[in-house]
Amino acid sequence: MNKADVGIKNVLFSREQLTQRISEMGREITELYASSPNKLLIITLLKGGVVFTSDLIRHIDLECRVEFIKASSYAGTESTGTVNIYLPRELDSLEGYDVLISEDIADTGLTLSELEKKLLERKPESLRTAVLLNKPSRRRSPFNPDMVGFEIPDLFVVGFGLDYCEKYRNLPYIAEMSEEYINKE
Ligand code: IMP
Repeated sequence: MNKADVGIKNVLFSREQLTQRISEMGREITELYASSPNKLLIITLLKGGVVFTSDLIRHIDLECRVEFIKASSYAGTESTGTVNIYLPRELDSLEGYDVLISEDIADTGLTLSELEKKLLERKPESLRTAVLLNKPSRRRSPFNPDMVGFEIPDLFVVGFGLDYCEKYRNLPYIAEMSEEYINKE
């Protein structure tokens, strides 16, 4: 009997679909930065972005630095609306870097617009954002990712790094959660 997928309603993107799309994104990123004179820095948000990013970077055929940043705004299935981002001292200056934020999902857009604002203050040569999933109907901040893996409707999804109350991050696919399991511990 499976134990990791209790509470899962249906699979939206299988492991194979994710692998295929992420490899395309990696190729696109490689082409985009191949002739840049700057260093490439990929910044990921803990914890949700880790699974996507660890797959993505293995499809980027360029020298790059990878940094992990802590951000939080969610309680259960709702954004609290207050985004806390901690930028470490080693990112005080981003001169000489093309910065690519790599994130699991753009939902309200609050986290990514706040992160972009903070990073722009550190003067990177360029700044772009790649997200695996995009939920444009949920925006509360005018934010447009430069690269999107898949557009999804207003659904709460889990798996492939995305959690519900710290569970399901280890599922190898992206799935919709069953309503009866939301808000039930
Ligand atoms: P935003 O600031 O509302 O765009 O949300 C950013 C963060 O909320 C993401 O990095 C996720 O960690 C979390 N999040 C948003 N939508 C979902 C979802 O459908 N499932 C799980 N986490 C989500």
